[in-house]
Amino acid sequence: MKGLQDKVAIVTGGATLIGAEIVRQFHRNGTRVVVADIDGKNGEALQREFADGVRFVQTDLTQDEQLQRCVDAAVAAYGGIDFIVNVACSYVDEGLASDRQQWSQALGVNLVGGVMLLRAAYPHMVQRGGGAIVNFGSTSAQVAQAGRWLYPASKAAVVQLTRSQAMDLAKDNIRVNSVSPGWTWSGVLDQVSGGDKDKANRVAAPFHMLGRVGEPAEVAAAVVFLCSDQASFITGANLPVDGGYGAMGPEQGAAPIAALMA
Ligand SMILES: NC(=O)c1ccc[n+]([C@@H]2O[C@H](COP(=O)([O-])OP(=O)(O)OC[C@H]3O[C@@H](n4cnc5c(N)ncnc54)[C@H](O)[C@@H]3O)[C@@H](O)[C@H]2O)c1
Repeated sequence: MKGLQDKVAIVTGGATLIGAEIVRQFHRNGTRVVVADIDGKNGEALQREFADGVRFVQTDLTQDEQLQRCVDAAVAAYGGIDFIVNVACSYVDEGLASDRQQWSQALGVNLVGGVMLLRAAYPHMVQRGGGAIVNFGSTSAQVAQAGRWLYPASKAAVVQLTRSQAMDLAKDNIRVNSVSPGWTWSGVLDQVSGGDKDKANRVAAPFHMLGRVGEPAEVAAAVVFLCSDQASFITGANLPVDGGYGAMGPEQGAAPIAALMA
């Protein structure tokens, strides 16, 4: 990929399986990375994978002074900021039963955290002559899901925010896009399925055209592409990385016309 060598990225949620894969793919392409995550154990373990070029800065996205500290650390270590990738999320969601504090948590991490990070990083990105931002949407942004109000609403807001940011930052040569994964093998799926990936694939198969969950590396490849020069004319877009989930309607592969004719 062109345009990644010697650039500097901040990846929030870099301690996740998906985030860590983004960090590895950036590193392979010569990009220096600051990992911003609240998870100290996995963040530090990730940094230890690399001799240099990856730095973990423990950061709570809901705390502005910690976001500023993270930006300052990136500039001090690597001389600037070119890319921001907003992977971190909160899955807190009890639908109707969710209280105000839970709504604040969900929106504070999933939506507002990335915006506050950008506010702190923006002058540095302008100083570098531009850059790219990749936000994380989800297939959950587009459909109704039983018992889930906070997470889907926050992800729909992220997709819309991406368009607004793309509009206003184009003048600074900063491109802003989102990726919307379908079910991806991650800490959450690992935990919920009891570590059974075959089971996750079986359950996911009916609503993902490709009949399986995605791999972290497949999502990471889309993120790194959107930051690269190969995507130089792409901004304001939402790229589904979902094995066909979003293109599939409620009929799924059931061929109901054939059932009607039978
Ligand atoms: N896994 C999936 O199937 C799937 C599907 C669609 C979209 N996504 C999106 O992909 C991204 C990664 O998902 P995942 O399932 O790997 O997530 P995850 O739950 O495994 O990880 C979330 C990460 O965010 C970090 N985090 C939480 N609160 C934080 C805070 N206040 N400050 C800083 N970091 C904080 C956690 O420490 C963790 O590393 C998310 O944006 C999610 O919405 C995932």
